[in-house]
Amino acid sequence: MARAWIAGTGAYLPAKVLTNFDLEKMVDTSDEWITQRTGIRERHIAADDEAVSDLVIKASRPAMAMAGAVPQDIDAVIICTITPDNNFPSTACWVQKGLGLRAGIPAFDISAACSGFLYGLIVADSLIQTGGAKCVLLAGAEILSRITNWTDRNTCVLFGDGAGVTIVTPSPDPRRGLVASCWHADGNLGDLLVQPAGGSRLPASAETVAGRLHTIHMSGNEVFKHAVRAMAQAAETVLAEAQVSPADVKLFVPHQANIRILEATCQRTGIPLERTVLAIDRIGNVSAATIPIGLDMSNREGKISTGDAVLFDAFGGGFTWGAALMRW
Ligand code: UT7
Repeated sequence: MARAWIAGTGAYLPAKVLTNFDLEKMVDTSDEWITQRTGIRERHIAADDEAVSDLVIKASRPAMAMAGAVPQDIDAVIICTITPDNNFPSTACWVQKGLGLRAGIPAFDISAACSGFLYGLIVADSLIQTGGAKCVLLAGAEILSRITNWTDRNTCVLFGDGAGVTIVTPSPDPRRGLVASCWHADGNLGDLLVQPAGGSRLPASAETVAGRLHTIHMSGNEVFKHAVRAMAQAAETVLAEAQVSPADVKLFVPHQANIRILEATCQRTGIPLERTVLAIDRIGNVSAATIPIGLDMSNREGKISTGDAVLFDAFGGGFTWGAALMRW
């Protein structure tokens, strides 16, 4: 049975760059603190007239060109995001419209926070395996700047905007494609990383806006501890199932939340930092978009060759987490 394989990658980062020095003028922070504690130096911020679908559409064109896919070829659209254009219709439907994809194909969003792209890849793999789709446009995209509390130094220094797109097709050869994966969630820990208002629990009101309840609320230390443990465990599970040793991982593509989480995950799993995508300094935490953006950067730098073991690993709100290994 054919497994999912990535035939093309693309990314788009909004033009505006917000540096740590810019943030020093906005809240009581310093470039030194942010760099040392997070590894982030700058992040991209969407323009006022850009929505998530606009970012995805811009990232889709280079991904489709690399895959040799035209709009008529795409037979499913999956957008992983926690900052959709609207609560409904899905951002995937706006992307379908904007790219002129065929009417009638399925299009839907996945909400799994920073694990979104990983979840999307596993869903795309299921579609490919069952013959439900042959050319999936799978994106991770966020405009986190719209749900950031710009007066809270604990969170506002962390997040950024951007989109990464992959074109997922059946693997061209049985030795290539997705080899192993795991995905998990634990809703008992949902309150530790949450956007409290804006849904049916706390609909928008003057009070929720005044209380900044539409922004990201995070218990940073708790999230940090769980992230390190869960990312290392997920990577180890998938490597064992795929019978690939850490030394044989050619490219490690973890979610970019904090350089210290990445270093700790590499140390625990035995994957060298030199083979790990480290884009956090330039993009910050872009939730579901960090993995496909980092993948596209490495792919375009020529860091991945046919047959290479590429390991994806993610952790995020929910909590959600998981990993996947693909033979390129
Ligand atoms: O994407 C998946 C979900 N997100 C994550 O995985 C993020 C996980 N968490 C983290 O990355 C880290 O916990 C943070 C980067 C959010 C915070 O780093 P930390 O080393 O855990 O710092 P802390 O929260 O323990 O704060 C240490 C100190 C505090 O001051 P006091 O109480 O020691 O006087 C904070 O008030 O640093 C202070 N602080 C800051 N100082 C300057 C917090 N934010 C800032 C800031 N600038 N931006």
